[in-house]
Amino acid sequence: MNNVFNTIPLFESDVFSKKREAKNTKEKLKRLDLKRELRKKVLPLCRLDYGHIWEDPICGHRIGVLDATLEKDVNQIMNGERAKLALNDPPYNVAVGNANTKNLFKIQLDKYLNFSRKWIKNTIFALMHNAHFYLWMGADYKDNFQPFPDIIILLRDFRELKPRNFITMRNQRGFGTQKNWMWVRQELLYYIKGDPEFNIEAEYTDIPKILRGYYKEVNGEITENLERSKSKFIRAGNVWVDIQQVFYRMEENVPGCYAQKPLKATERIISSATKEEELVIDFFSHSGTTLIAGEKLKRKVYALDIDPIFAEITIRRLENFRKTGNSGWQWRNPFPELEEEIGKSRWT
Ligand SMILES: C[S@@+](CC[C@H](N)C(=O)[O-])C[C@H]1O[C@@H](n2cnc3c(N)ncnc32)[C@H](O)[C@@H]1O
Repeated sequence: MNNVFNTIPLFESDVFSKKREAKNTKEKLKRLDLKRELRKKVLPLCRLDYGHIWEDPICGHRIGVLDATLEKDVNQIMNGERAKLALNDPPYNVAVGNANTKNLFKIQLDKYLNFSRKWIKNTIFALMHNAHFYLWMGADYKDNFQPFPDIIILLRDFRELKPRNFITMRNQRGFGTQKNWMWVRQELLYYIKGDPEFNIEAEYTDIPKILRGYYKEVNGEITENLERSKSKFIRAGNVWVDIQQVFYRMEENVPGCYAQKPLKATERIISSATKEEELVIDFFSHSGTTLIAGEKLKRKVYALDIDPIFAEITIRRLENFRKTGNSGWQWRNPFPELEEEIGKSRWT
């Protein structure tokens, strides 16, 4: 009997503490591209206005509040330098989470292609003669899969770029519906300008090879594929299944950002395309993933975002990383100045 009485309160308090933990570890800062009242509170905390650039005194990174479609803005941040890699993740012309915001907008396709043409031209200009060009893209099945095929066709007009690959990253958000295959794909286009080097080491995952059976005769002996291969691990290839979509329990999560790319994917791209000290550009910084990946890998990064809030988050993420070693804030708030208000306010 004693045992029963002992276990009931224990079980209840267990459930209670789990509930409390779930509540305490929920992201309290909502989408910063969406909540107007929240934006009003955050804007005065941003150190840059449109047209301003922050220069990192330690590694020379630059972060600007600039417009990727304007040649003068791109010239301002590049200041005559050229990059080895452009890693761009623009808005996809899809209403993200059913919300059409200024940052992640949905506009008429011809207008979107016009926007894309401008920033692509500026990116090519900012690249060295031999350089890599990566572009994350989306396809809206509810709208004829635009803009993915349209962007590929648009890219044909840029003769300086040669297509190299079309990567799909498995990226699971939510649980899907019962009426369709679950949408778990995220497209990544890879082009080159000139003839840049590719570091094959970056392609190896930490997934051990397990399949045997591709036999071949070498010097009169039958060998199987594992004996002949260069690594015990499989190559990522152009279907990346080993990358976790960022969510609020991961250390790298940046609350307030809705379109954050995983660091692991970003580091893979940077390592394949550049060496230490080389310059990487990202014209759509948002949560600052490219900057943090570059910092970790000792590359210099010039990042810009048209929104002072995301430029500020990018700078704070770097400062926080250097101070704490954490690559994000998990469910915690990158704006501690607003901690109290966020706790009680309706605009969160
Ligand atoms: C899809 S998010 C990028 C996500 C980023 N890769 C990450 O991991 O956090 C797109 C960003 O582009 C910015 N943006 C939209 N139009 C822009 C423009 N014309 N110039 C620069 N940035 C722009 C938005 O403010 C938004 O932060």
